[in-house]
Amino acid sequence: MNEELKRASALAQAGRFGEAAQIYRQRLARAADDPEATHFLGVCLFQSGQRDEGLKLLARSVDLAPGNAVYRRNYGLLLAQAGELARAETELRRLIALDPGNAPAHNYLGMVCQRLGRVDEAIAAYQAALRLAPGDAATANNLGYCLHQRGDLEGAGEWLRRSLAADPRNAMAHNNLGNVLRAEGDAQAAARSYRRALELAPRFAEAHANLALALRDLGAARDALLAAREAVQCAPGNAAAWQLFADTLAALRFAAWDAGLAADCERLFSQTEVEVQDCAEAVLSLVRSAPRGPLFLLLLEHALVADAQFEAQMTALRREALLGSGPLELACALAQQCFLNEYVWRETPEESEIVESLKTDTALNIALRAMYRPSPGLEKPAGGGEAFERLWRRHVEEPRAEAAIAPSIPALSPLEDEVSRRVQAQYEENPYPRWQRAPAAVPYPVRLMLRSLFPQLPAIDIPDNPEILIAGCGTGRHAAITAQLQPLGRVLAVDISRASLAYAARRCKELGLANVRFAQADILGLPALTERFDLVECSGVLHHMADPLAGWRVLVSLLKPGGVMKLGLYSELARRHIVAARSLAAGLDVREARRRILALPTDHPARRVAALRDFYSASGARDLILHAQEHRFTVPQLAQAVESLGVEFLGFEFSDKTALQAYRPRYPDDPAARSFDNWASFEAEHPDTFAGMYQFWVRR
Ligand SMILES: C[S@@+](CC[C@H](N)C(=O)[O-])C[C@H]1O[C@@H](n2cnc3c(N)ncnc32)[C@H](O)[C@@H]1O
Repeated sequence: MNEELKRASALAQAGRFGEAAQIYRQRLARAADDPEATHFLGVCLFQSGQRDEGLKLLARSVDLAPGNAVYRRNYGLLLAQAGELARAETELRRLIALDPGNAPAHNYLGMVCQRLGRVDEAIAAYQAALRLAPGDAATANNLGYCLHQRGDLEGAGEWLRRSLAADPRNAMAHNNLGNVLRAEGDAQAAARSYRRALELAPRFAEAHANLALALRDLGAARDALLAAREAVQCAPGNAAAWQLFADTLAALRFAAWDAGLAADCERLFSQTEVEVQDCAEAVLSLVRSAPRGPLFLLLLEHALVADAQFEAQMTALRREALLGSGPLELACALAQQCFLNEYVWRETPEESEIVESLKTDTALNIALRAMYRPSPGLEKPAGGGEAFERLWRRHVEEPRAEAAIAPSIPALSPLEDEVSRRVQAQYEENPYPRWQRAPAAVPYPVRLMLRSLFPQLPAIDIPDNPEILIAGCGTGRHAAITAQLQPLGRVLAVDISRASLAYAARRCKELGLANVRFAQADILGLPALTERFDLVECSGVLHHMADPLAGWRVLVSLLKPGGVMKLGLYSELARRHIVAARSLAAGLDVREARRRILALPTDHPARRVAALRDFYSASGARDLILHAQEHRFTVPQLAQAVESLGVEFLGFEFSDKTALQAYRPRYPDDPAARSFDNWASFEAEHPDTFAGMYQFWVRR
């Protein structure tokens, strides 16, 4: 290399791309076809942001010197960096054909395949690279990561450890090893790995988030919250980090005001697609210890608060706001809360009279009225301000959008069954569950999900682009989450209630989910479908049919052989308090039923339903204590059904590890936790185990 080019190369390596580029240009002015100056000018332009120009020059340098492996490798790598994955793959494969012993080329090819979602090919490419350069830390880390994705925890752990032996300062490899350890159930060691990653890279948001998860597994909820807050500080644009913050917060209550935490909560509420519902009571505990400010208003607007004392206070505050005519911001916030609870709070005859006589000519009057009644068909007044704009969107525009969508939803089967019709009527009036935000779910192939849920079972092979049926999708929250978890899958979501489907379709459209379609159908009418599914999900539905087993049988017949089904069914034992409340509520309207239950002594069994979120909204309370049709199951009944349907029981799914952690030492002979007999005796000893329903998986 002559002196001129050496100087340019040194400048480029020091990041002084502009000065280096000038030298390469001078050289090209004298020798237009100089491949080296062409190539490195391309690199300099690419690195200084002129990507298209840079890539053109790189392509030209490869044409000028077709046998130069370095040029081709750099070209492939920078194409990949520019997101031109298909072209990058072509270049890297050409290079490998020319120079099969080029280890970095195999590694880069692996990275490209990984980004294209072709994990098996990525693994093969990394393995080829490592055969050529066995000690390469970066490639070993990449291979470890992909093996984890494939569910091979042992292999993943081995390669990540090798990577770290070669380069102990690689924060990413420590983080990846932490993930493997956590998946193996060793949260303590996982936390150590994440902490090591954070010593090396203190602003590594993913490692903070993973540390929060490990700490949560270890029961250190407050430390987990601190780690989750670090994650959002490092990555304020990352919805998953905000979701983790919300989820971690949900488990906690606060006795004193904490201004820093309150500021983070305010930012949390402004994340439009982060699910904040479950942290409502945590935020309530925080705002209770301070004068009512912005966080209090945000809480009212964004989350249904499930707390009897708060309900009583807010019912009184609403009355004051009505009688005192404002202020507008408070009226808007209360109206939002009442929209979320579907106007389930009690009102006095005096309030009813004032509300009925309110004109709807000003933003304030509309907001005052919206604290008590839905607001269809109103004219929008001018100048309401931001809070009113948000009220208008939720109370007027969104229901209008749903009314426009409803007629366009196709019907797959007629509704003939008597019970289905009664149940339909309930959900047409009160679509359930009402949801404003869905957790931002990151893709998680079913195969990996099952591997992590049931590590003791042999791997279950479900394609990464599964056909999915959601039977009884309700308002679509579940369908939206599944569609995000399975972006390569195609989701058909059906329900009998058109109002629920319209709600679902509106929300999924807003979320930009293109892989889910909705149709009206009774499960009993689904035998008409010719499609067959890799995955069927049916949660909280079959127990509302006249004959749940008949519905379940239809769903089994729609599974492909080897396909899996996730079900959610009520437990007789876990719902014993709800059964008591149901008999008390029978025949009453929802407000009166709630009033009587809230008036019970706190130790009355039926009063326990007042601890459940569903009790605090009209649709929830109807679903909970006034349902038109409800069956409940026992574990022996589940066992019998599984046997008569000829499906394989894969196991129960729990939202946290508590039940399995208690079950495993009690039944050491059943490591896969699949014995119905054991679960029946476990549930008898721990009758609230299935309070969130029997959630379980079967395979055809
Ligand atoms: C409690 S909601 C559950 C909704 C949804 N699966 C979820 O978890 O959010 C029950 C839903 O099942 C629907 N459903 C009840 N019986 C049905 C049937 N025979 N066919 C289809 N959907 C049904 C109802 O309309 C309602 O939307």
